[in-house]
Amino acid sequence: MSPNEQDPRIVVLAGDGIGPEIVAAARGVLDAFGSFDYDEQLIGGASIDALGTPLSDDALTACRSSDAVLLGAVGGPKWDTTDPDAPRPEQGLLGLRKGLGLYANLRPVKPLPALIDASPLRRERIEGTDLLVVRELTGGIYFGRKSREPDSALDECVYTAAEVERIAVAAFEAAERRAGGTGTGRVTSVDKANVLETSRLWREVVSGMAERWPAVELDHLLVDNAAMQLVSDPSQFDVIVTENMFGDILSDEAAMITGSLGMLPSASLGDGGPGVFEPVHGSAPDIAGQGAANPLATFLSVAMMLRHGLDRGTDADRVEAAVEAALGGGLRTADLFTGSGGERRVGTAEMTEAVIAAL
Ligand code: IPM
Ligand code: MG
Repeated sequence: MSPNEQDPRIVVLAGDGIGPEIVAAARGVLDAFGSFDYDEQLIGGASIDALGTPLSDDALTACRSSDAVLLGAVGGPKWDTTDPDAPRPEQGLLGLRKGLGLYANLRPVKPLPALIDASPLRRERIEGTDLLVVRELTGGIYFGRKSREPDSALDECVYTAAEVERIAVAAFEAAERRAGGTGTGRVTSVDKANVLETSRLWREVVSGMAERWPAVELDHLLVDNAAMQLVSDPSQFDVIVTENMFGDILSDEAAMITGSLGMLPSASLGDGGPGVFEPVHGSAPDIAGQGAANPLATFLSVAMMLRHGLDRGTDADRVEAAVEAALGGGLRTADLFTGSGGERRVGTAEMTEAVIAAL
């Protein structure tokens, strides 16, 4: 279908490694829901190669005027360097998050019934897990002052009360929404308040806000303890809110509860403008170009885009149901394949066809 005036404008940032394959597959899924006006732009290593910068002004401007941004992945060994002056693909992603003001990163973790035995954790540990990591995305050590001397290096970690407050609002609201009619959600705020000054501010601000959501329960966990609890008893969590770097680490850890990092979607949202929707996994350069990548995290990110970016919750539900149906039928990409009976090992294309057919 060729785009019409009123079609949603989706900027597609395929990026590096398996990015182009999974994003092409995701467009196939999205096309089942009508016509979209796609605008392909460069990011990451692909952008460094073509334009000398990981994110061009043109690409950022296109994103700003879009309705939503669909992103694949960035990075790869080709651009890996410890030279502080060389451009890095990841700077493109960080520049995009900052440039669009996307301070709230939502990473839902819910093992699908069909995959419960694909997790390295025992079934009885993970059953009943349904949690949401709300990661602060535009502050903290990722964006602090950096410097490098021959024999020393500095990464500064700064948080303002206002930055903590707006991400906490996102977490409290998510807890309320997830609790549906009952309102009895729970927010676990994760910090390192026994050591870090930024964490002490974080804890004070979040605690001071709790009375505005009387039905939502608030508790605090130190990040090392949270890392341990996530694998020993993940079903205790509802909404986890935490700063940028802790959220980065804990969300990869939490991903394994779902069986594979290849299953985890994300939405990065700001106040009002377009969001960025991307799988949590990286560019997987080792399997790039082989047609073997698991496209499901990207499909689930498309579902988040439909729900949070385009206000089409019913369509989002349909994508999620279709992913479950394909897995329920036994299809498994290599990362999910356990070799048990009833499973059939497939590549990106066959998995994509099955999901589209299930729609
Ligand atoms: C993520 C990634 C990024 C991050 C990298 C690629 C910069 O790990 O989205 O979790 O650290 O935020
Ligand atoms: Mg990460």
